[in-house]
Amino acid sequence: MNEIEIQKQYIEKVKAFNQGKLPKYTILTMGCQLNENDSEKLSGMLEQMGYERTEKQEEADLALFNTCCVRENAEDKLFGKLGELKRLKEQKGMIIAIGGCMMQEKHITNKIKQSYPFVDLLFGTHTLHKFPEDLYKTLDEKKKLEDIIDIEGKIYEGLPIKRNSKIQASVTIMNGCNNFCSYCIVPYVRGRERSRQPRDIIQEVKELAEKGYQEITLLGQNVNSYLRVEKEKGLPIEEYEGVDSFASLLKAINKIDGIQRIRFVSPHPKDFTDDVIEAIRSCEKVCKLIHLPLQSGNSKVLEEMNRKYTKEQYLSLVEKMKKAIPNLTLSTDIIVGFPGETDQEFEDTLDVVKKVKFEQVYMFLYSRRVGTPGDKKENQIPEEQKHKRFDQLKDLVESQTEENNQKYIGTIQKVLVEGESKNNKAFLTGRTDSNKVVIFEGDKKRIGQVIDLKIISQHIWYLKGEEI
Ligand code: 5AD
Ligand code: SF4
Repeated sequence: MNEIEIQKQYIEKVKAFNQGKLPKYTILTMGCQLNENDSEKLSGMLEQMGYERTEKQEEADLALFNTCCVRENAEDKLFGKLGELKRLKEQKGMIIAIGGCMMQEKHITNKIKQSYPFVDLLFGTHTLHKFPEDLYKTLDEKKKLEDIIDIEGKIYEGLPIKRNSKIQASVTIMNGCNNFCSYCIVPYVRGRERSRQPRDIIQEVKELAEKGYQEITLLGQNVNSYLRVEKEKGLPIEEYEGVDSFASLLKAINKIDGIQRIRFVSPHPKDFTDDVIEAIRSCEKVCKLIHLPLQSGNSKVLEEMNRKYTKEQYLSLVEKMKKAIPNLTLSTDIIVGFPGETDQEFEDTLDVVKKVKFEQVYMFLYSRRVGTPGDKKENQIPEEQKHKRFDQLKDLVESQTEENNQKYIGTIQKVLVEGESKNNKAFLTGRTDSNKVVIFEGDKKRIGQVIDLKIISQHIWYLKGEEI
């Protein structure tokens, strides 16, 4: 019996265990879209086991956390929540389970066991598929369980999934990372790169298209090296519909009827090959907003970060892409205050931002991560200085965003309508190809459609439009 069939048996066992009850669960997901996608799988397994989701902590029989460890603030959030749960656990005896990236860090699991001994189940990134078995054992044996391994797990296909949206879906195409950027914890907690087989991805996207999904986001830590490791190591790749690289994967998905938009995160600038640029240009469904993480605009800092490109190489890649792809827009990630970064070096980051004029910039304060080379550096930047640079970057980005938003006013944009606006139910909300949020007054039957909207005003974080 294969591993997934074994887990299906455990799903039945938990279901039998819960018979006659209507158990409820809460799930708190931290971090990136990959974690969101893992949470959709955890929810899929739980709902097959008879659990129903609730947002109210006090009515939950199971409180589940899917953690992230990329920056420190997620740790503070988890420990805060656990502190809040202690009393509820004493009163109600609910099961508390914690999974995800943070659980791959020994100092964190030790802290949980010491300071929060009431937590029932800890599981890591390589044992997510075994969640039904781990939960069953926790329920049945009524003792604490820890299921964390260091060696990267295989990619398991066929796990149930409960998706958050009926319009947009994420599809993980690979796990892990081989790049070891010196600030980043991901390679240590998600293991080495391994790609899913083309057939499994294409079939998943076809099924999504049949269910009516409009937009697909392909996920991986390093999507443009899809299948690279497999090729280097001579591992078997079952070719399917001509897919043997990231570029050919984009082309194959572009042909799937029903899907209207394809996005992907995140590529690495050092691996952005010409065939991928060509695929973005020629595939009409691939959105022309490309996320291209910069991290720093200074070549010395980039070298210290182990990013393997210089400021000039990044800028010339951007030039090449802009020339090749009409209407290209870019978004990026930037870290401020990496150890040793001087004010002058930080100016280079501002310079790249001024030159590229990103559509969106995700800004992060450098956060020390135990076990990474960045953490061992002696020339850490004082928090105050980091914040000063962060505010300087934020001011620049906001003024550029406003200027850029002005350009949208009066234009007609294709918008995929996602649903009612959370802040104002009188409006519907959607996104342009360039991932800008647009709100407008319209009929709910528009939800799930791509429609033309005329942009009438801008409000920094969103645009307002009207139907034409
Ligand atoms: N500190 C701050 N930001 C980080 N990121 C990754 N590691 C760290 C860290 N230690 C940011 C990078 C990455 C994004 C997902 O998170 O910009 O692209
Ligand atoms: Fe972290 Fe760099 Fe890998 Fe991205 S590419 S996950 S930043 S090590």
